[in-house]
Amino acid sequence: MLLSFLRKNLRLTGTKYGCGGGGCGACTVMVSRYDPQTKNINHWSVNACLLPVCQLHGAAVTTVEGIGSTKTKLHPVQERIAKAHGSQCGFCTPGMVMSMYTLLRNNPQPTMEDVTEGNLCRCTGYRPIVDGYRTFCEGQPELFSKGDLLPLDPTQDLIFPPELAEVKDQTTQRFCGERMTWISPGSLNELLQLKADYPQAPLVMGNTNIGLDMKFKGIFHPVIISPTQVPELFKVTQKPEGVCVGAGCSMSFLKSVLERSINDFPPESTHMFRALLQQIKLVGGQQIRNVAVSATHFSTQIFITDGRRRVPIDKDFFLGFAKTVLKPDEIVLSVFIPASRPNEIVHAFRHAPRKESALATVNAGMRVWFNENSNVVKEISIYYGGVGATILSADRACQQISLSKLPWEEATLSDVYSTLVDEIKLGPSAPGGKVDFRRSLTLSLFFKFNLLFQVALYGLFIQAKSWYHSAQMGNLCSNPCVLCVQNVLEGQSAQDPVGRPMMHRTALSQATGEAVYCDDLPQTDGELFLVIVTSSRPHAKITHIDFSEALKLPGVVDVITAKDIPGKRFRTFTGYDEELLAEDEVTCVGQMVCAVVADSKAHAKRGAAAVKISYEDLQDPAFGSCFQEAIEKESFFLPRRQIERGDVEKGLREAEQVYEGEIRIGGQEHFYLETQSFLVIPIGEEKEMKVYLSTQHPAFTQVCFISTLGIPSNRVSCHVKRLGGAFGGKVTKTAILASITAVAASKTGRPVRCVLERGEDMLITGGRHPVWGIYKVGFMKDGRITAADFQYYANAGNVVDESVLVAEKILLHLDNAYNIPNLRGRSAACKTNLPSNTAFRGFGVPQCMLVVESMIDDVALKLGRLPEEVSIREINMYKEVSLTHYKMEFDPENLVRCWNECMKKADFRQRRQGIDLFNQQNQFKKRGIAIVPIKYGIGFAEAFLNQAAALVHIYKDGSVLVSHGGTEMGQGIHTKVQQVASRELNIPTSLIHISETSTQCVPNTCPSAASFGTDANGMAVKDACQILYNRLEPIRKKNPKGTWQNWIITAFLQKISLSATGYYRGHDLDMDWEKQEGKPYAYFTYAVGCSEVELDCLTGEYRTLRTDIVVDIGRSINPSIDIGQIEGAFMQGLGLYTMEELKFSPSGVLYTRGPSQYKIPSFCDVPLKFNVYLLAGSSNPHAIYSSKGIGEPTVFLGSSVFFAIKDAVTAARKDAGLTGPFQLNSPATPERACLVAQSESTSGPAQPWALNI
Ligand SMILES: Cc1cc2nc3c(=O)[nH]c(=O)nc-3n(C[C@H](O)[C@H](O)[C@H](O)COP(=O)(O)OP(=O)(O)OC[C@H]3O[C@@H](n4cnc5c(N)ncnc54)[C@H](O)[C@@H]3O)c2cc1C
Ligand code: FES
Ligand code: FES
Repeated sequence: MLLSFLRKNLRLTGTKYGCGGGGCGACTVMVSRYDPQTKNINHWSVNACLLPVCQLHGAAVTTVEGIGSTKTKLHPVQERIAKAHGSQCGFCTPGMVMSMYTLLRNNPQPTMEDVTEGNLCRCTGYRPIVDGYRTFCEGQPELFSKGDLLPLDPTQDLIFPPELAEVKDQTTQRFCGERMTWISPGSLNELLQLKADYPQAPLVMGNTNIGLDMKFKGIFHPVIISPTQVPELFKVTQKPEGVCVGAGCSMSFLKSVLERSINDFPPESTHMFRALLQQIKLVGGQQIRNVAVSATHFSTQIFITDGRRRVPIDKDFFLGFAKTVLKPDEIVLSVFIPASRPNEIVHAFRHAPRKESALATVNAGMRVWFNENSNVVKEISIYYGGVGATILSADRACQQISLSKLPWEEATLSDVYSTLVDEIKLGPSAPGGKVDFRRSLTLSLFFKFNLLFQVALYGLFIQAKSWYHSAQMGNLCSNPCVLCVQNVLEGQSAQDPVGRPMMHRTALSQATGEAVYCDDLPQTDGELFLVIVTSSRPHAKITHIDFSEALKLPGVVDVITAKDIPGKRFRTFTGYDEELLAEDEVTCVGQMVCAVVADSKAHAKRGAAAVKISYEDLQDPAFGSCFQEAIEKESFFLPRRQIERGDVEKGLREAEQVYEGEIRIGGQEHFYLETQSFLVIPIGEEKEMKVYLSTQHPAFTQVCFISTLGIPSNRVSCHVKRLGGAFGGKVTKTAILASITAVAASKTGRPVRCVLERGEDMLITGGRHPVWGIYKVGFMKDGRITAADFQYYANAGNVVDESVLVAEKILLHLDNAYNIPNLRGRSAACKTNLPSNTAFRGFGVPQCMLVVESMIDDVALKLGRLPEEVSIREINMYKEVSLTHYKMEFDPENLVRCWNECMKKADFRQRRQGIDLFNQQNQFKKRGIAIVPIKYGIGFAEAFLNQAAALVHIYKDGSVLVSHGGTEMGQGIHTKVQQVASRELNIPTSLIHISETSTQCVPNTCPSAASFGTDANGMAVKDACQILYNRLEPIRKKNPKGTWQNWIITAFLQKISLSATGYYRGHDLDMDWEKQEGKPYAYFTYAVGCSEVELDCLTGEYRTLRTDIVVDIGRSINPSIDIGQIEGAFMQGLGLYTMEELKFSPSGVLYTRGPSQYKIPSFCDVPLKFNVYLLAGSSNPHAIYSSKGIGEPTVFLGSSVFFAIKDAVTAARKDAGLTGPFQLNSPATPERACLVAQSESTSGPAQPWALNI
């Protein structure tokens, strides 16, 4: 593929690997071709991970390195994304840049509508990227002063190489690889001949289908035919009856053909074109549509004609899953798209888990042709996708309508719905799950068609029929947001950067692709690649591992098993031993068993596939799908914790009402864009090793590493330049993977690289703990909660990892912002046969608090009042200096201020009235609003983790090198630390450099986690800088007018040391679980978020209309970086609570192993209006420069969207006569929202497709 060619052969590492399957856009490049017919040069953004190099004959490829550089000149796109703070970890940034660059090459003045999708970012929350893009769009507000930005000058763009415009040969090209032959025929005849010679060979056009099959399903094709040079496949002809499009035209091209045809044909003939256009816009991302050809798409899904036989697309066209009437030696030549006839209406519908870049859950094409001047149907077709192995035609419903000869009216149609229910059947185990929902969608989509049809038939105006209006989601546009930042202190010097919104210090390098990540390091001599072999059983004895076949394969050097580990074969964590490689028994699918090392990644993968592991299944595995299995088997990791204040039983007895409820919160995949990556290099002397890796905790990796190899720490240095995102997922699992790589390096004596593929990463490394929260609450009629009793179960998976600590943190946050006098919490980390879960931004708090807030919601619903209306939340909130349930004193003043300010800024009460009115007027569309607070403890309860150290060198030229224990993963720690050093040394930031985090420079460091990185490391750097500054004091006094450089050289000549270590002891925090009291946190960060959504009750689709967030982060060191953290965390929370779903098969196999199956928020999910305010006038004596930690807390504010959805669902249920509390589990996907809004689930007892984790 082009991606590996660019990265490995050409050493152009700006183009990144994020998923390898066309789903993330990190590998986006621009491909340009000359079109001899139009004499135009066409530019396309494409995913390099799916683009075969053989297909690039005659094309020019532009990568991020080609458009600009920090060494020469930046391209405006690179500059603007950086200056708009649109690059945090930076791993997605080159791909984003190339998407925007290509758009501008095609249209230098785009509108916001043109702004492409198809790129994912896990850090920023997209808003700043959108604002960067906005600067190029017409009619958008000026977000920057004109002079601050480089102008876009298309004349400066790279020209298309003229020699490529002269490539005319259409001769056959044939490329032969180690195992495969690629043939690109030059003519149609030749293509037909090849197809006859190799009937099994696939035709590869966009490679978005075949490429995925080969990569992920291991399907191998010895011969591939690529007909991209066959002119007949690209022909477009327009006739009065319709448009004929060559089968090789891409979807993007088809889109432009349809747009043209809509203009060219009379409006009444364009129904089909419009319906198709609407669908095509939603297929894949822009990069996919640019290459995937429409005919292949339709040939497996809609219709086809070819030169020799014309095949109508009807119910007989599809024979089964991915099978059509096309014979093996036939090809599709063209697709004919008919113009609609008079009185013919066509509509297409699609429901997908995410609006953009997501495969449809259910889609439908519906066409009705009625008699002239009448509403009696002459002909009708209704097709559904996503409800069976192939496209289904609702024949009986169609017959019922057309045979009845009755007018199209509500009464006539009422029976059709029952026929559809009967006809479109899905068994309870249907692949894809969501059985009830899919069935409900078939009706909803027909209902929507009915409404659209009625409008067309009667020519109704939308104002006249509010119920019609109510069934359509409005066309909502995004607005620029308000970001309220603080000002610097009065009298602060202009040079002092603290408190200023400085750009991320390497944002420009990230935007130009120069920023180096672990896998960007050049190959070292003799380097090997390691691929992990994992268990395919959830619970089994390993009876034999046979790797003899693997060792025979070309390039395979060795297979590493537990027996090869020279030191400890396990890691001990919170009292439990965790095996690095399973030796005798496996306890989950995905557990690491052995590893294959080979001279290339491809060879190592083949070797891994050839390893045969024999198993003997053990007793039934426990998946904890209802947590019941774990509870029944008492399968817990110990200790189980409990905490209580007051007398809960008494509080419940004295309450006027008692309610019992529960909620389940699903897990979450970290989905850092850079997968786990390692390079271990044996130095060859005295067992020394250098380890380059992507971890949040280099010192922990070092410890794990040395115990595995049985060598002292002083032989191993771990180096982290930067991480492409982490979110808690690059601590414990990373250390194990690095240790396995180390064993391979030690055994072979050669450098070994391991870079997990996305699917491997998702399978092996676990994620956020799914949690089941059960509660009992006692309350008074006025809303006061007198007692609450919580039981939490967290699904830990097969090994303990940090699960016991997560369960503890859950208990520490169960009061959230509420002063409940009698409060009890119990938590348990359940041991199950699923991959082990680990730390994830918030460390259990986002799950814990959702339970608490659900309880508050239930109390409000029970009392029949809105949770915010002089409000259950307000009534119970901490208001004055108080003790938490673990007896830590704190002052909630800023919590209350955040609440009041958010209510005001969001105009909550006024909008609530507007929403009520809206809901009265709309039957099928409801709006909801919710506001939630958070009180989040900062610091580690394990006191030793709060320490930090730093090393600062001043060189003779005055430049400063700062090293500290924090790792840069996009959160901007190095930028903030640079600001600290600049203030303390009183020099500009340009003189200060931070190169990497290394155990060689700063030993025994603590993890960059718990939102505590800057607090601790900033203080250590401050200490080191102050030591140095004080050492220079006599020199400065003697020469007050001297420059920094003068002072430094003088100090050197006077033999004053210009290097210092700094140390920060950190807070002495603790938590005594026996006494159930302590001071586990240094202080609290407070925040309040308010969101409003609009929900389509027919499909469960929702849109976040507006979010307002007020956060107390003391005095921010860098407001733009902090706002980046707030927005990014919010969006990650939005994903957690509303869309991200991990699916496991009933036998414990993870289905969701990439962006195609697992949806994280995309551009389309950003609130249309997104305002962030930092609380003014706040300070914090417990952290550096009065700032506060902010990395994690606002994940929970994403739940404001969850509760807004719940509020909208409540309105829908009210219409249906349903009142009172109801259970809405998280994530509140369209499926859940829709089903809860309508009625209770009706699924049968049979084995479902996926586990309910
Ligand atoms: C990230 C991603 C997102 C996607 N999103 C969506 C989505 O939202 N909705 C959706 O429906 N699909 C989606 N897809 C699937 C994608 O649209 C289809 O895979 C696409 O239509 C395939 O086109 P292609 O040219 O890339 O196919 P290829 O992989 O090149 O080939 C596909 C198949 O068609 C056959 N074929 C190609 N040309 C001809 C011909 N002329 N005559 C006969 N047979 C031919 C080939 O033999 C092969 O079997 C997505 C795919 C990816 C990777
Ligand atoms: S790496 Fe190519 S799209 Fe993800
Ligand atoms: S900045 Fe986008 S993934 Fe990190």
